[in-house]
Amino acid sequence: MTVASREGVDPVRLNSTSPVALIEIDNPPVNATSQAVRAGLLAAIREADSDPRIEAVVIACAGKTFVAGADIREFGQVPREPHLPDVINAIEACSKPVVAAIQGTALGGGCEIALACHARVAEPGASLGLPEVKLGLVPGAGGTQRLPRLVGLEAALDLVTGGRPVRAPEALRLGLIDRLSSGDLRQDAMALARELIGQPLRRTGERSVAPLDAETASAKVAEIRKKARGAEAPGKAAELVLLAANLPLQDGMARERETFLELRSSAQSAALRHAFFGEREVMRLPGLDSVEPRPIQKVGIVGAGTMGSGIAIAFADAGFDVRIVETSEQALSAGQARVTDVYDKQVASGRITPAAQDERLKAIGYAIGTSSLLDRDLVIEAVFEDLEVKRALFRDLDAILPPGTILATNTSYLDVSLIAAATSRPADVVGLHFFSPAHVMKLLEIVRTDATAADVVATGLALAKRLRKIPVVCRVCDGFVGNRILSRYRQQAEYLLEEGALPHEVDAALEAFGFPMGPFAVSDLAGLDINWARRKRLAPTRDPRERYVDIADRLCEAGRFGRKTGAGWYRYEDGKREIDPAVTALVEESSQRRGLTRRAISADEIQSRIRAAIVNEACKILDERIVERPLDVDVVMMHGYGYPAWRGGPLFEADRVGLQPILAQVKERAAQDGPGWEPAKGLVDRAASGAKFYP
Ligand code: 3HC
Repeated sequence: MTVASREGVDPVRLNSTSPVALIEIDNPPVNATSQAVRAGLLAAIREADSDPRIEAVVIACAGKTFVAGADIREFGQVPREPHLPDVINAIEACSKPVVAAIQGTALGGGCEIALACHARVAEPGASLGLPEVKLGLVPGAGGTQRLPRLVGLEAALDLVTGGRPVRAPEALRLGLIDRLSSGDLRQDAMALARELIGQPLRRTGERSVAPLDAETASAKVAEIRKKARGAEAPGKAAELVLLAANLPLQDGMARERETFLELRSSAQSAALRHAFFGEREVMRLPGLDSVEPRPIQKVGIVGAGTMGSGIAIAFADAGFDVRIVETSEQALSAGQARVTDVYDKQVASGRITPAAQDERLKAIGYAIGTSSLLDRDLVIEAVFEDLEVKRALFRDLDAILPPGTILATNTSYLDVSLIAAATSRPADVVGLHFFSPAHVMKLLEIVRTDATAADVVATGLALAKRLRKIPVVCRVCDGFVGNRILSRYRQQAEYLLEEGALPHEVDAALEAFGFPMGPFAVSDLAGLDINWARRKRLAPTRDPRERYVDIADRLCEAGRFGRKTGAGWYRYEDGKREIDPAVTALVEESSQRRGLTRRAISADEIQSRIRAAIVNEACKILDERIVERPLDVDVVMMHGYGYPAWRGGPLFEADRVGLQPILAQVKERAAQDGPGWEPAKGLVDRAASGAKFYP
């Protein structure tokens, strides 16, 4: 049997062995259900069903993974037959037992294929899930209806609305799969298929689901909507899952399909698809395709503070040999305690096994002094954020480390060129700006100076891939991409305070916009002292005409550095943030001092002023060629700063909102707020010509 070929290879092959036939899907890289795969699968299942020699079927995949979902690249096109729900229904309707053999990932449409099979066997390392909400969708081929029939409503609500994949052992506990493979996956699936011959067929769609009482159900939907922070898919998915208890499969699937098609053409789904492909695209930097990265296996980290230990964990998790150095035993053992604590918590929560903990702890060595870094391929400094401290360290490292060792700085604001200039090897120096906590946050800014060698940048990108981080390559400027934009919109947020808003109102407006936390709450979490030091550093060069709000300075002078001191923009009681009348008084006093009459400021105004500040600064970053593409800014903002992914990042969203209204807002701000707020040339030019960031 053959169906439309990919350069001579059939994307679906039927091997009609008796009594168990094998249907093999072979559509690299991830066996997505493209039109050719759907057509091939339907033809194969029909042929197997009608062939009297065949008594059972195994569906398996070539390569590293089971089907990882529908082909997302087809989403912008008119859907072509056969549609996935029809193919999947045909699998379930097959009169002979069908068993899914799952390795790698069975995601989205892939998981839906597995759900419709009459039994499922998976490798222990495999994972299954319905991540459609992460693409602004609901499962569209029976996932919302079949999953609850296998695992119950509560577990299905959790999995479908969170989009979280589960590993095979958990899937087994939940009832999502029937067996773990003990060695040869295909053999195990064949064996199970043979056992099922002659048994009554276990069709998932024919099972019933225990309902939830109405009150619990609506409370759950409300909670899911709240947690989604403006993303519409999770709430819709929840409603569909609940239908499984009340509607026959086909009726539930019809409702599911309707919602799926509606969301597929929604702005949110377009934005989330942009985010999905963007995360992968940033890895490919024009001009670096053919540059060979340097081999890295041994990594040294200078500084065992929060950043240093987080970076060490990130590398140990990815299988590197790590050594942390400090200047004193005390600092070293504090760092070691930090590392151990993170792994202890991961074991306690079941995220890693005690054996994995052991392995990772062993991968991290500790030493006093930089002389123990001589065998390292890469050394990253995570010491105090002070230019002279870092330059002195790099001078020292340069003197002792062999040529070719890459020297990286984790600075978040400082001029990497000046740090590189302290060495005799500026070509080997690069910024690797991790975000805190470094073992959790996905974003990595790779900062190249004019002197950084191309293979050092390529090494940064290759490292990011191994660390499972999302890298954005940028050039030097104060704060690079993310912190530079953050400083700008934080400044605008402070203007809003002086004009009449209070910190909790600004935060609430931006949380309603979709940020997980508003800027003042974030500031309290990160610590106000870091920015205070930066403001003091920049004070001598600040334009005296610039509008400057000193409320944050006053908070710092009062020792209010945020959560860690129990007070900052808010006060904290038992970890809960509370509005602090002392801050309100400080804000009001500041307005008075400036002669500003306070007024009520709407959430709308707060959101649009902050968005305009972000877009304008982003355009300046593009104008100055700090990054190559608008995508780089969007990825930084989504992955490092909580810009809602369902908006696709500030520049993707600006295209949708229209550049004219944003420019008008920027011009108004420039008139009010003075130097620093002038419209970016790229914004003015694009608005005038009608050009978009994403043509
Ligand atoms: N459709 C089209 N292309 C896909 C794809 C998909 N579903 N999934 C991955 N790809 C592409 C990637 O874009 C990438 O292409 P590139 O090499 O040109 O950049 C390539 O496959 C490899 O992907 P990754 O780099 O992500 O490889 P990893 O090994 O790191 O991860 C993965 C593999 C876990 C499968 C990850 O790619 C992933 O999460 N994919 C998306 C899965 C998903 O969301 N599925 C649901 C789709 S919606 C759906 O099924 C609707 C249904 O209900 C009707």
